[in-house]
Amino acid sequence: MKAYEALSRVYDRLNADVDYEAFADLYEAVFRQAGIAPELVLDLGCGTGTLTLALAKRGYDMIGVDGSAEMLSQAYQRKYEAGADNLLFLQQDMCSFELYGTVGAVVSSLDCVNYLTGDGDLGRCFALVHNYLDPDGVFIFDVNTPYKFKHVYGDNAYILEDEGEDGACYCGWQNEYDEKTALCSFYLSVFAEGEDGRYRRFDEEQTERCYTAEELTAALMAAGFGDVHFYGSTTMDAPDEETERWFVTARCKK
Ligand SMILES: C[S@@+](CC[C@H](N)C(=O)[O-])C[C@H]1O[C@@H](n2cnc3c(N)ncnc32)[C@H](O)[C@@H]1O
Repeated sequence: MKAYEALSRVYDRLNADVDYEAFADLYEAVFRQAGIAPELVLDLGCGTGTLTLALAKRGYDMIGVDGSAEMLSQAYQRKYEAGADNLLFLQQDMCSFELYGTVGAVVSSLDCVNYLTGDGDLGRCFALVHNYLDPDGVFIFDVNTPYKFKHVYGDNAYILEDEGEDGACYCGWQNEYDEKTALCSFYLSVFAEGEDGRYRRFDEEQTERCYTAEELTAALMAAGFGDVHFYGSTTMDAPDEETERWFVTARCKK
């Protein structure tokens, strides 16, 4: 099954503890620091659109790009329920997307960049982000760190669970990390409770690629970015050796 084809059904339930408002707070802090007030923002790898909608509610006109029709269908539902009209969702690949014009900022949350697993993908994606950013616009993304791949994912297995309003959901998560290729496979088995109380199982495999700070910085500089910063949290703390998520910001030089 393609990545997120099945997982889209329970993605929001399994990520119920993600503080998307804190992500939005970080983005606005970076905008202020950079002295920009973007009107139009691209959410690259927008998934089910929770963050896209949070930013739209803060007054930004939003474009959400994602490769998964299933994730976007959840995003459309969310947009419809909120009655928001300042959101446009496009099904496109992060390495070959096309926009109608430039945007003031590009954000990409929850390790979308780690899903760029092919050689050259990072450069292709960053070059497009640069191409579609206004001069001095900012690019903000977060990635799982090499520490997390090695010590948290590793070859470990664990269970994620949620017992929310939409019924219970359990996800068995098995990892296989190959340090030589820097690729980590996730084997997911999800058991989700339906409205009739019965559980359905579905399985999905995903792959993420581990990028070092040097690789990310080099790819950003090669694409034409400057002022590259790495933070260890949404409140811009400095990262340390055990940081599991880097928040990376870069400025578009044109
Ligand atoms: C972990 S989810 C993050 C979703 C969302 N940004 C969030 O914060 O909830 C990763 C998303 O990246 C998308 N994705 C992965 N590789 C992609 C690619 N090459 N092009 C477009 N979307 C991609 C997936 O479809 C998925 O929705």
